[in-house]
Formats: sequence, C-alpha cells, structure tokens
Amino acid sequence: MENRNRTGIPGWKRGLLTAVVGIGMVLAAGAYREQVTEQEQAETLAGYDAAESASGEKKKIALTFDDGPHPVYTEQLLDGLSERNVKATFFLLGCNIEGNEEIVRRIAEEGHLLGNHTFYHVDITKLSREEACAEILDTSSKITEITDQPVEYVRPPFGNWNQDLECEVMMIPVFWTVDTLDWSTRNADRLVEEVVSEVEENDIILMHDSYDSTVRAALRIIDLLQAQGYEFVTVDELILE
Ligand code: NI
Repeated sequence: MENRNRTGIPGWKRGLLTAVVGIGMVLAAGAYREQVTEQEQAETLAGYDAAESASGEKKKIALTFDDGPHPVYTEQLLDGLSERNVKATFFLLGCNIEGNEEIVRRIAEEGHLLGNHTFYHVDITKLSREEACAEILDTSSKITEITDQPVEYVRPPFGNWNQDLECEVMMIPVFWTVDTLDWSTRNADRLVEEVVSEVEENDIILMHDSYDSTVRAALRIIDLLQAQGYEFVTVDELILE
C-alpha cells in the first residue's frame, strides 16, 4: 500500500516526539508541584496523546453506516456513540424507515448526520432518470418528514452514481476510502484489527449498522483510535474541507 503519511515524519519518530514532549510536560509540572502521582503522570501523557497529532491538529476520521435504520442494532450503536460523545453518519434506506421513525428522530436529535441510500438499495445507473430520481427523492422526503431537516448527502449503493442526476436531485454523493466488508466478515475482532491497522487521517469508513458484530467492532474501533488522537466527525466535515 502507498505511504499516506502526510507529515513526512516516520511513525516511530512521531511517537518518540510525542513521548518526549509529553514527558517534558510532566517534568515541568513536577518542578512546581511537589507531588505528582504516577496516575496523574499517566493521565497527562494520555491526555496529550489523545488531543493532538504531531502536527498539532486533531486527525479527523468519519464512520459511516449504511442500510439502516435497523430496529435493534442502530439503537445499540447510538447508545455506544452517545457514551463516547462521537458523531457518525447514517445513510438510510427509505424502505427501512417505516416502523423505525423514532430511531431516525433519535439519530438526528443526537447530532449525527443523516444521508440517503436510495429507497430499495438500487443501482441508480441501471434505472431510468425518473425511477432514479424517485428512489432518492422519496427517501429524502421520508427522512425530512421525521427530522424537519433537508437531506443533502447520498451514498449510492454499490458506489454507482450518475452525475447527471445531481442537477435534478441537488445532492452530494459520498463514497468511502475504507470498505470494511463487515457484511461478509461478521467477525468483530477481525474488523477491529483491519480497520485500526489500515486507517489514516481523513478516511471515510464504510460499515453497516445491521449486525451485532459491526456495532461491537465500531465501538472498539472508536476507543482505540481516540486513544491514537483521532477525532470522529460527520462526513460533511471531511468533504467540505
Ligand atoms: Ni448499502
């Protein structure tokens, strides 16, 4: 895989730099505070690590969940995101909204971004213009009915998008940079390992809130990457930069 380290500083050096600065902070603090407990030292180091990357800015990353809302797993995920104060992006299928309106409302109320994933999970490029527009517009209006907010982003199923549609439906297509293939893996440990080892700053991670394994993996991924200094943002923050 290509080296996407944008700082130009090798990872081990960045780690060392962070550690040295962190220890310096602890020593400086100790000079005028007589007693610094080990626990406090560890907290200082961890706090510094978690707050910033070597460049001094938080490394942003976006988790995206397609195919929901799911009557069980979406809420489990929302609980975990809320505990961690993390925002994510949900691309909903119109056909899954009925009966799950409360979940859609909760996604919006808790500050996540809602997007469109067509009504019946169709390949938009295989439909007539009229059918394609209906797939998208019907889904957006179902979401807007519940949330009172316009839907501006669409994730085309299979990543197939027809740019000519943009002028008619006024939506921004959102693709991904890391495909977890969580629907085929169904193994939380493997998902965590793959994502954490592969992920880099500004990545958009594709997952599905339709599986127990995905929910468990996503929350562990958050814990591990937050400790590495990543900040989880909604996808609009990465796209509109
Ligand atoms: Ni999908």
